[in-house]
Amino acid sequence: MTHYRILLPYFRRNLGILAIGVSSLLIVDLLQLFIPRVIKLAVDDLTRYQATSARLLSYAGMVLALALGIVVFRVVWRRCLFGHSRQVEEALRNRLFAHLQTLSFSYFDRANTGDLMAHATNDVQAVQLAAGMGLVALTDTVVLGTAAIGFMLYINPSLTLIALLPMPFIALFARTISKTFYERFQKVQASFSQLTERARENLAGIRTIKAYTQETAETNRFDQTGRNYIAANLRMVKISALFSPMSLIFTNLSMALVLVIGGKLTILNTISVGDFVAFNSYLLLLTWPMMALGWMINLFQRGSASLGRIQAILNTTPEAAEISEIPEKSLTQGDIESRSLTFTYPGSNLPALEDIHLSIKPGQLVGIVGRTGAGKSTLCQLLPRLYDTPPGQLYLAGEDIHRWPLDELRRAIAVVPQDPFIFADTVRANICFGNPDASTDEMIKAAEAAHLLDEILALPHQFDTILGERGVTLSGGQKQRLTLARALLLSTPLLILDDCFSSVDLETELAILANLRRYLKARTTLIASHRLEAMRAADVIFVLDWGRLREQGSHDQLLAQKGIYAALYHRQKLEDELYEEAVSGKR
Ligand SMILES: Nc1ncnc2c1ncn2[C@@H]1O[C@H](COP(=O)(O)OP(=O)(O)OP(=O)(O)O)[C@@H](O)[C@H]1O
Ligand SMILES: [Mg+2]
Repeated sequence: MTHYRILLPYFRRNLGILAIGVSSLLIVDLLQLFIPRVIKLAVDDLTRYQATSARLLSYAGMVLALALGIVVFRVVWRRCLFGHSRQVEEALRNRLFAHLQTLSFSYFDRANTGDLMAHATNDVQAVQLAAGMGLVALTDTVVLGTAAIGFMLYINPSLTLIALLPMPFIALFARTISKTFYERFQKVQASFSQLTERARENLAGIRTIKAYTQETAETNRFDQTGRNYIAANLRMVKISALFSPMSLIFTNLSMALVLVIGGKLTILNTISVGDFVAFNSYLLLLTWPMMALGWMINLFQRGSASLGRIQAILNTTPEAAEISEIPEKSLTQGDIESRSLTFTYPGSNLPALEDIHLSIKPGQLVGIVGRTGAGKSTLCQLLPRLYDTPPGQLYLAGEDIHRWPLDELRRAIAVVPQDPFIFADTVRANICFGNPDASTDEMIKAAEAAHLLDEILALPHQFDTILGERGVTLSGGQKQRLTLARALLLSTPLLILDDCFSSVDLETELAILANLRRYLKARTTLIASHRLEAMRAADVIFVLDWGRLREQGSHDQLLAQKGIYAALYHRQKLEDELYEEAVSGKR
């Protein structure tokens, strides 16, 4: 229950609304309590032969007026309290989402998307129910319960005690089953996460599934997950379904006791017939608070379980924490230095980079090459602190990267990641993603530098063409060049291209690189690539192998060294020649 503390600020913010809502709820409860009083008066008049049409009419009028009051105030409390709970829901979901945005890459390497989606939907909703309906149930249990009992005591204390005899059993029963309910509810939530994740994975991987004709197998797997979800729900329903009928049994037991003993008291004239009728009405009124008691326990426990899961995410601190000492200058230069840079991915045994010493001057065009898995992407991701290194190993513009405010650091580095990501939006929105204020001219220039302009102009609505799921699908190479244009539009001192020409042919790649030199001017540019032919233009090339820096120098220097670079280069050259031969042989 301590989890609820994180909701306090939202309750404080809505204090006015909450006060109106709870007061209206209290008024409704109060009005409900007066209806049996009126009925008692009517019945007493009837049994004493004092009833006249005028009196009966005035009683009817009172009942109607009370009912009208109940309707009005019920609308008010529902609007206030449920409105408040929806606001809590929205605030909590936004907070969760905003927090997720701050978490580092390594968190998302471990986290499961289905789980996260379940937190943002089911868990937040469980909290909303607790904050809304839970609050109502709590108020009703306390107020309506005590007031009804109070009126009953007023009519006859000993009869009240007898009528209440079965009630402790309800409370006891509620306590016992709510524990089981809580465990089963957690299983339901976990199983919902699995279902969401399976659906997401299937839709994302639909092309692979079809290509491997695994539709039936996947459908069966999905079916099984769906069944698990239903089974978990049914197990929970078995428990929750027990609650109302059992509560009814206990209230009916009370009714039976009151009929026998209260009836006798009425015959003996200890209480009037009107009191007897009113007493029964209060007992009926008590049924709801007793059930609300169980319901409230369920709602609060569900909400608490969900809040616990949400809290666990909110407690995850972003790994790239800020360091308070900030350099006085601003980050305008792209010179890089690493001192014995060693990095191991969380959960991995082997370092992806080991003891790297390198130095890059501002404005240089730098190649990073090496076999697959050598550590190129890792190096690219460490600079903007997408993964975090220990302090003292990586320097940008003469300062430890940890000393730059994270915002400023990331604004100074444009990264084109290895797998391009395109938003389901227009070409324009995709290119201007990092710089929404860019002018059309600047956007066109970036597209031109990325060698994409002609292809964009050939699209049905040019820059306004919608891409992605509901629009045009681009080829792999087009996507890569689009993400390149996106990065070029940010005038950052440092540009990192992580293998972003892998789906582009060599000729286009060379043309883009030649263009880029002019476009980039003083910007430091890191290009991770497999294709060594494209590295000719680089000022310096670093050769990585198994996470270690093995060679460095210009293209010609490295060829002269006859080491790893030279071997890789000659092999690629040979492959290209064989390919050319094969192609020309076919002609
Ligand atoms: N998120 C991650 N978590 C754990 N290990 C990772 C992660 N990303 C990469 N690695 C490992 O780190 C090593 C270096 O990977 P990296 O992606 O830097 O290679 P690369 O040189 O970019 O390869 P490629 O040319 O195939 O893109 C590999 O052994 C890889 O398995
Ligand atoms: Mg890579």
